[in-house]
Amino acid sequence: MERIVIEGGRGLRGDIQISGAKNAALPLIAATLLTPGWHTLHNVPNLRDTRTIMALLEAMGVRWEWAPDGPLRINSEHLVGNEASYDLVKTMRASILVLGPLVARLGCARVSLPGGCAIGARPIDFHLRGLARLGCTIALNDGYVDAKIDGRLRGGTVYFDIPSVTGTENILMAASLAKGDTVIKNAAREPEIGNLVDMLTLMGCGIEGRGTDTLVVHGVRELRPAEIAIIPDRIETGTYLMAVGAAGGEVVLRNCNPKHLPALLEKLHAVGLDIEVGETSIRVARRGPLRNVDITTMPFPGFPTDLQAQFMALMSMGNGLAVIHENIFENRFMHVAELRRLGAEIHIDGHSAIVTGVERLRGAQVMATDLRASASLVVAGLAAEGSTIISRIYHLERGYANLVEKLAKVGAAIRKEKEPS
Ligand code: EPZ
Repeated sequence: MERIVIEGGRGLRGDIQISGAKNAALPLIAATLLTPGWHTLHNVPNLRDTRTIMALLEAMGVRWEWAPDGPLRINSEHLVGNEASYDLVKTMRASILVLGPLVARLGCARVSLPGGCAIGARPIDFHLRGLARLGCTIALNDGYVDAKIDGRLRGGTVYFDIPSVTGTENILMAASLAKGDTVIKNAAREPEIGNLVDMLTLMGCGIEGRGTDTLVVHGVRELRPAEIAIIPDRIETGTYLMAVGAAGGEVVLRNCNPKHLPALLEKLHAVGLDIEVGETSIRVARRGPLRNVDITTMPFPGFPTDLQAQFMALMSMGNGLAVIHENIFENRFMHVAELRRLGAEIHIDGHSAIVTGVERLRGAQVMATDLRASASLVVAGLAAEGSTIISRIYHLERGYANLVEKLAKVGAAIRKEKEPS
């Protein structure tokens, strides 16, 4: 096991290259199951989660090539399996994304129920109800979802009670091979959905309503392989913006897309950071004290729940009070107890956290509990006086490529080391 050690209090200066988006790479990799032939995906981030989904596909007979710093090429021509086992699914819930493509391609699929995770129960009822609307019979057997269809899926209308990101992605992929049209209502509008719509369009499926909450999918009998780039990771971008806010200094983020972060940029302006956006870059600087600002997490284009923990770390060193309301997941305050160990003053009241900014955080030993909670501990550790030691960093490595290298390159005193036995 490894841990991260940070000596806080050093300002950051220089450039950080943003990697491809984890939450776009996962559905686009799953979409390669829809048709044989060599797909080419550029800008795929090399993360624990992308390696996990590739292991899942390989177990089904999918071939792939991934040259260092090159595109990921995938060919599912020789699919020999249609099962996603519990061993792999329990390490990454997003494995559920193979369900739609597999049942559309093969007419049957068996995927382990993901089970809950640190931030919530994470049900998949919307996914299953949507597939049933497309003609699937769904059975739950010993912890697995068995989905079947005789012949082709049939287009229909799917309505999401809540705009589910992976739910929208699963139904989009399934509907692309269905007979007739499918209308998805109250669809999620995250940029990662747009990336998937672009890929399915390149594969030969007509889709209307990109970027809106109503998508119309004109299913086809067969698709063709595509070549496409994964969009920049907006959550990685937001995390580094707030790292500079916490540590101070001035950094330019490269290969990012400012248009994918409307709510966060608005809030960071209000916090008092200096933000200048280009086409594919954002310059961020902290010139003076941080102002405390309230946020409520919402589906895109609202404030992303995946940036809530990092924002809380930033507000823990601001001036005054900030109320943070977590609207998406029922248990996404696991980072509070760890931030308190660094001296943060945070009071939880149901789905709200009231943060009182303190003069100075103090380094301590802390423990990562989930992916974005671990990122918030890095943000706080960069500002805290003294050493912050973060254990269980495998959480972090699921979603941040080369985080230690990227931060060290702009002057952070940060290193990875073995956990003492
Ligand atoms: C995606 O998860 C992301 N993961 C999450 O990022 C992100 O936090 C989340 O969307 C919200 O933006 C990937 O894209 C791989 P949802 P997803 O379905 O699709 C409820 C990270 O840190 N719901 O949009 O699983 C659900 O409980 C991860 O990168 C149902 O009730 O989230 C939640 O309250 C964490 N039934 C809400 O909807 C369902 O069938 C939104 O969840 C599905 C969801």
